[in-house]
Amino acid sequence: MARFFIPLESSPRETRVAATPETVKKFIAMGCSLYFEKGAGLSAGFLDQAYIDAGAKLVEPGDDKALAESNVLLCVKKPNDELLKKLSPGTLITGLLEPYGNKTLASVLQLKGLSALSLELLPRISRAQSSDALSSQANISGYKSVILAASALDRYFPMLMTAAGTVQPAKVVVLGAGVAGLQAIATAKRLGAVVYVSDIRPAVKEQVESLGARFIEPPEISEKPSESGGYAREVSKEFLLAQRQQLIHHLSEADVAICTAQVPGKKAPCLIDDEILDQMRPGSVVVDIAVDQGGNCSGTKSNETISRKGVKLIGASDLPCTVPNHASYLYARNLLALLNPLITNGELTLNTEDELVKGALISKDGVIQCPELLSTGELN
Ligand code: NAI
Repeated sequence: MARFFIPLESSPRETRVAATPETVKKFIAMGCSLYFEKGAGLSAGFLDQAYIDAGAKLVEPGDDKALAESNVLLCVKKPNDELLKKLSPGTLITGLLEPYGNKTLASVLQLKGLSALSLELLPRISRAQSSDALSSQANISGYKSVILAASALDRYFPMLMTAAGTVQPAKVVVLGAGVAGLQAIATAKRLGAVVYVSDIRPAVKEQVESLGARFIEPPEISEKPSESGGYAREVSKEFLLAQRQQLIHHLSEADVAICTAQVPGKKAPCLIDDEILDQMRPGSVVVDIAVDQGGNCSGTKSNETISRKGVKLIGASDLPCTVPNHASYLYARNLLALLNPLITNGELTLNTEDELVKGALISKDGVIQCPELLSTGELN
């Protein structure tokens, strides 16, 4: 029988939980049992009693017996090693495990003979959409980045005609139009801003324009940025230089820049350097949600707001943790959608022929499935 364990998340600042009373009820209805660490849902607005009512067994944090008996651990971020070491060999860990170049993760999985599905590695195919935690969480980041910018800006977002005069709408530049960028565009448009967007994948132009924003065409140079599985590949220095020239003009007139440009497993491209910042007006705001991947803007720091010659630089990491109830609601549903097809009569079978399992499986009983990715951050 599949025996789930839901831990209290241990990463600092983490407020989400990997199962909600709704998903617990569904796992139990499938014939599984579930241990839930006391208080694990509290910061996301879910009370222990709701989990008990859904059929979970409440346990003290780090309960040895419950951990040893469990064979599936659902988490948001990788639990601390102390907890992982209490699991029995063969236990399946499922979560956002940050696998790129993560040698510590590889060694604990090997040492304990654990299996692991890392949701970052799910293939981007239609069937994976309901399990796609990167998208459900990036959507929240995109939304919240604009809310932060609007609240920090010294101007209105919408155009207003008042008796005292007309106020022009804010100009927002969104860098990167993936899931987060598209939600940032939609949110800024809803607030009434004029929105310009830069992305290196020409395919996003139509999506950007359908949201009512203006697309800044990628630079006309011989190199065309390539894609892999829907993701952007890293571009050359020459391309970035040409792109920077285009952005100077737009950013010097911008009230807000929302930075979401990323290349999976690589350092985020630096698109706003000191020279561009010098040209932005005092009072304008840069929200960098790529900050933990190196940032799109020079000088942003994780979870800090810095004033640079009057320009506010907001290093916005972990934005989904600031909307923990809905972030957990969606994340828990992502996990349910991923595991549901693997469970029959309460038994979970890790079918390695399944395309989603094959893509996300980083370890099977301690045997690392993608050693290059975990040791260097690269896929072989
Ligand atoms: P991401 O978070 O890896 O990157 C964000 C954006 O940054 C991407 O659009 C990328 O092209 C852009 N970018 C990279 N370098 C840049 C640069 N120098 N300047 C400007 N922009 C730059 O991407 P995310 O949000 O994960 O989405 C990637 C794609 O995957 C999207 O097209 C999305 O629609 C697609 N997708 C497909 C799914 C499916 O079919 N199941 C599910 C989710 C997304």
